[in-house]
Amino acid sequence: MPVDLNTAVPHSARIYDYLLGGKDNFDADRKAAADIVKASPSLPISMRANRDFLARSARFLAEDLGIRQFLDIGTGLPTSPNLHEVVQGVDPASKVVYVDNDPIVLVHARALLTSSAEGSTAYLDADLLDVEKIINSAEVRDLDFSRPVAVSLLAIMQFVPDESRAYEIIDALMAPLPAGSALAISTVTAHNPQAVQAAAVYTARGIPAKPRTDDQLRGLFRDLEVVEPGVQLVHRWRPEPASAPVEDFHVQMSGAVGIKR
Ligand SMILES: C[S@@+](CC[C@H](N)C(=O)[O-])C[C@H]1O[C@@H](n2cnc3c(N)ncnc32)[C@H](O)[C@@H]1O
Repeated sequence: MPVDLNTAVPHSARIYDYLLGGKDNFDADRKAAADIVKASPSLPISMRANRDFLARSARFLAEDLGIRQFLDIGTGLPTSPNLHEVVQGVDPASKVVYVDNDPIVLVHARALLTSSAEGSTAYLDADLLDVEKIINSAEVRDLDFSRPVAVSLLAIMQFVPDESRAYEIIDALMAPLPAGSALAISTVTAHNPQAVQAAAVYTARGIPAKPRTDDQLRGLFRDLEVVEPGVQLVHRWRPEPASAPVEDFHVQMSGAVGIKR
C-alpha cells in the first residue's frame, strides 16, 4: 500500500529530523521548525542532549540492569546511534522492537532493522495511544515476557498532554512486564521558559505539546522505583566523563529511569 506522507502538514518526526540536520523533511516541517527555533534558539542543542540521554540511558539499561529486550516507542527517524546499536554494542543478542506512528519513519524503518546476527530488531507501525495493539502485536509478542523488558518513551510524552491518559498508557505498557523491567522517559520540561515557548509553537502548528514539571514527570513513573539521580535535565542524568559540557539554560528536556520491583 502506498504511504501517504501528508507533506503539507508539519509532523514532529520530520521537524525533529530537520533540527538534527537530517534530510527527511518537507517545506511545512522546515517552516514550523523555523518558527520553533525563533521561539526557542537553544532547541537544536537540546535535541542533541536528548539523543545523548537516549544513548546513556540505553547503555545503563543494558549494562547496569542487564536488560536484553527493548521496546522503543516514538523512535523517530533513524539517527546514529540508534538504540539497537547501543544495546547490541553491550550484548549482540539484544532484541529491539521500534514503534512509531509517522509514515515517513515507516519508510525509513529498514535503516532501523540492521540488527546484529545474534539479536533482532523489528519495526511496528502503531500509535502510543493504542497500547493494546502494541502489546498484542506479533513483533512485541516475540519478546519473552518472563524476562525483563525496557520500555523507552523518549521525547514523546509531551505529545500526550492529558495526565490521566498518560497514566493509563504507562500502566497498560508496564502491567504485562515482569519485575526487573524498566521505563526510560524524557520529555519537555516546564522549568525552562524556552521549552514552554517551543511547546506553544508546536501547539499553534497543530501538534499539541505539554511541558511537564519535575513532579509531573516523576508522576509518570507511577509506582516504579526511580533510580538515582532521579528526574534531571537530560544532560545531568548520569553524565559520562567524555560528555561535552552543556549549559542548563539550553536544555529543554528532563529525563529519568524507573524500575519495576
Ligand atoms: C521528537 S521525536 C523523538 C525521537 C526519539 N525518540 C528521540 O528521542 O530522539 C518524537 C517521535 O514520536 C513519534 N510520535 C509522536 N506521537 C506518537 C504517537 N501517538 N504514537 C507513536 N509515535 C508517536 C513521532 O512520529 C516522532 O517520531
